[in-house]
Amino acid sequence: MAIMQGAQLFRDTNGEVAQLHGIGVQRFGDRWYAYGEIKNNGNLFQGVACYSTTDFVTWRNEGTVLEVGEDGSITGPERIIERPKVMRCPQTGKYVMYLHVDGKGDYAYAHIGTAISDAPTGPFEFLNTMQFRGYESRDIGVFQDEDGVGYILSEDRPHGTHIYRLSDDYLSIVEDVICLRGTNYWAGYESPILIKKDGVYYWFGSCLTGWDCNDNMFATATDLHGPWSDFTPFTPEGSHTYQSQCDIIVPLDGADQWHAGRFLYIGDRWNPDDLGNSPLVTLPIDIDDRRAVLQWRDSWDNTL
Ligand code: GAL
Repeated sequence: MAIMQGAQLFRDTNGEVAQLHGIGVQRFGDRWYAYGEIKNNGNLFQGVACYSTTDFVTWRNEGTVLEVGEDGSITGPERIIERPKVMRCPQTGKYVMYLHVDGKGDYAYAHIGTAISDAPTGPFEFLNTMQFRGYESRDIGVFQDEDGVGYILSEDRPHGTHIYRLSDDYLSIVEDVICLRGTNYWAGYESPILIKKDGVYYWFGSCLTGWDCNDNMFATATDLHGPWSDFTPFTPEGSHTYQSQCDIIVPLDGADQWHAGRFLYIGDRWNPDDLGNSPLVTLPIDIDDRRAVLQWRDSWDNTL
């Protein structure tokens, strides 16, 4: 039994609110590791936190795994740095963290940052920032395919949201696989998520409404290059994704992460006046046969 609420604050074993805003989750070995923005004190960079769990109910605080850099540096305390996501590179065995690195209190810089570590719990050493062919990059997501190839999803306001293929060492971008605007929408979707189930890719994202919630969307394809289906909502229209912005979809069971039967949806319910206490919406999401449906539950058992 692992009972979750439909919306809640995750707390660590000391009862402190887990700073897992803009959360990314990966399973390494027999634990899941979650990475998040520390938002105890406003929106500027306060480091990246890591917590680990076996059931998404009990959270071990693994500490600050990427520290704030010196004043004036690219990871300094006046920067906006969001949406930490980590993958383990199969070729090098290193854990690589990707970040949305933006400006000094503004969103004008729009780069992807990388940091690297020998362990999922850090410490992560910040490497550099990049843009592919000068394309803006704000919200990001990551995906590792069955063949070990890594991808970054990246929202680029002038063009749409890209799926970029990573180099073998996961430290640079080698291909702009596809770039899509939303369906009947002026931009690409942000807070992008890519997962795969039984040979079908599912791409999720939200419209661009800042801290406010909207009806998030998804599309499907059997090849990352496309063709992709239209994007459609996966919650009742007007529910604004049960007042959340999608962050991550975690495969809970199955022989491997690409053949799961059950998935956990996690999204931010941003509280702009007190970002550090923004709850997470945590619900089961049914994904099968090119459909995705998120249903509200006041509480549920994530082992069933
Ligand atoms: C959202 C984005 C968040 C944060 C916010 C600031 O659109 O997904 O990560 O950047 O805007 O307004």
